[in-house]
Amino acid sequence: MKGILLHGGFGTRLRPLTHSGPKQLIKVAGRPVSEWCLLDLRDSGIKDVAIVLGELAPTRVIEYYGDGSRLEINITYVYQGYPYGLAHALYVCREYVRDEPFVMYLGDNILTNGISSYVKEFLSSDADAMVLLTKVEDPRRFGVAKFDERGRLVGLVEKPKEPPSNYALVGVYFFRPPYIFKVIERLRPSWRGELEITDAIQKLLESGFKVSYAFVEGWWKDTGTPEDILEVNRLLLDVKYSKQVVLGKVESGAKVEGRVYVSKDARILDGSIVRGPAYIGAGAVMGPGTYVGPYTSVGDNAELIGVEVENSVVMDGVVLEGRGIRIVDSLVGAGASVRISDSIPTGSKLIVGEQARLWLRGGA
Ligand code: TTP
Repeated sequence: MKGILLHGGFGTRLRPLTHSGPKQLIKVAGRPVSEWCLLDLRDSGIKDVAIVLGELAPTRVIEYYGDGSRLEINITYVYQGYPYGLAHALYVCREYVRDEPFVMYLGDNILTNGISSYVKEFLSSDADAMVLLTKVEDPRRFGVAKFDERGRLVGLVEKPKEPPSNYALVGVYFFRPPYIFKVIERLRPSWRGELEITDAIQKLLESGFKVSYAFVEGWWKDTGTPEDILEVNRLLLDVKYSKQVVLGKVESGAKVEGRVYVSKDARILDGSIVRGPAYIGAGAVMGPGTYVGPYTSVGDNAELIGVEVENSVVMDGVVLEGRGIRIVDSLVGAGASVRISDSIPTGSKLIVGEQARLWLRGGA
C-alpha cells in the first residue's frame, strides 16, 4: 500500500504563520504537523509516500524531509501548485500510485490513535474506497456522511447548510485504483472552484462502487486555525510524551516537574521552572528565572529569559526576554522576538509583520 500526504493549500486561516511556508510544517510538540502524519503512515506499515506540494515554499518541505531516510520511508515529491481541491491533489498522483491501493492523508490532520487498524481493515476488504468518520458538534464546517435507514453510506455532502448526520469526514481516505481516477476526470469544480473529494466519492457511490466506512476511535483534529494548533499541541503533549525525559542540562537551581521533554543541548538555567506537559527543543535556553507552564512547546534554539509562558507554541529561534512578560494561549512564529526594553521612554515598540495579531494588556 502506498501513501499520499497532502502538503499544499494556502493556509489562509493561519496567516501570518503561513506567509513563509505551508501550515503542515508548523512544529507542534516538537515536530511539524505533517511529520506526525508521516510517522503514523510509517507505523502503519506504509513505507512509500508521495508528498503533494503546493505553491507555498515547496522547497522548504523538500529540504526538511529529503528522501525520507531519516524517518525510514521513501518519499517522492509530486507538485500540485495551485490548490484546485483534494480530488485534484489526488489526481496529480495517479502515475505514482499506478494500480496499488493507497491512503490519502491530509498533512494537517492529527489522529491520536493512528490509522494502522484502518489500513488493515481496508486491505482485508474488497472495497473500492473507505472513508473515516467521526461525530462532531457542528457538521456544517465539514464533509458530512448520509446514511440510509439500514446504516449504509449513501452520500457525502461538503459543508452542508442542513447536515444529513453528525458524522464528519476525517482527512484520511483509502482507495483502490483505477475507478477513483476515472471519476475525478469527469468531475466539475464546485461552487468554491475546487475538485471536491466528497463529489468524487459520491460519484463512486452513485456508480455502484463499494465505499465502506469506519468510525475513528480517539481524537481527531485538523490544524486549520491558531486555536486548532493550540489544541493539537495539548493533545500531542498528552499522548506522545508519557514520562519525563531530560537529554539537555538542568542547572541545580532549576526545576523540571512532570512530563517534560528536554531535548539535547537544551539548557534550563537557575531559577527557572518547567512544568509539564511541555516540550523544550534542541539547543533552547530557558532562564535564568523563566517559567514554562503546562501545555507549552518551545522550538529549537529559542531563548526564554525571565518570562512566563503557558499553553503556547513558541517556534524555533524565538527570543522572549524580560521580567513581567507573561505570554498565554499564544503562537509565536519562528525567529520572532518579544522583549521588555528600558531604552523605550513610553509605549511599546513593534515591528509586526502583515496580518500579525497581538493582544496587549492595557497599561502594558
Ligand atoms: P484546507 O485546510 O481546506 O485548505 P487550506 O490549506 O488552503 O487552508 P485555508 O482554508 O486556511 O486557506 O486543506 C486541507 C488540507 O489539504 C491541507 O493539508 C492542505 C491540503 N490541500 C492540498 O494539498 N491541495 C489542495 O488543493 C487543497 C484544497 C488542500
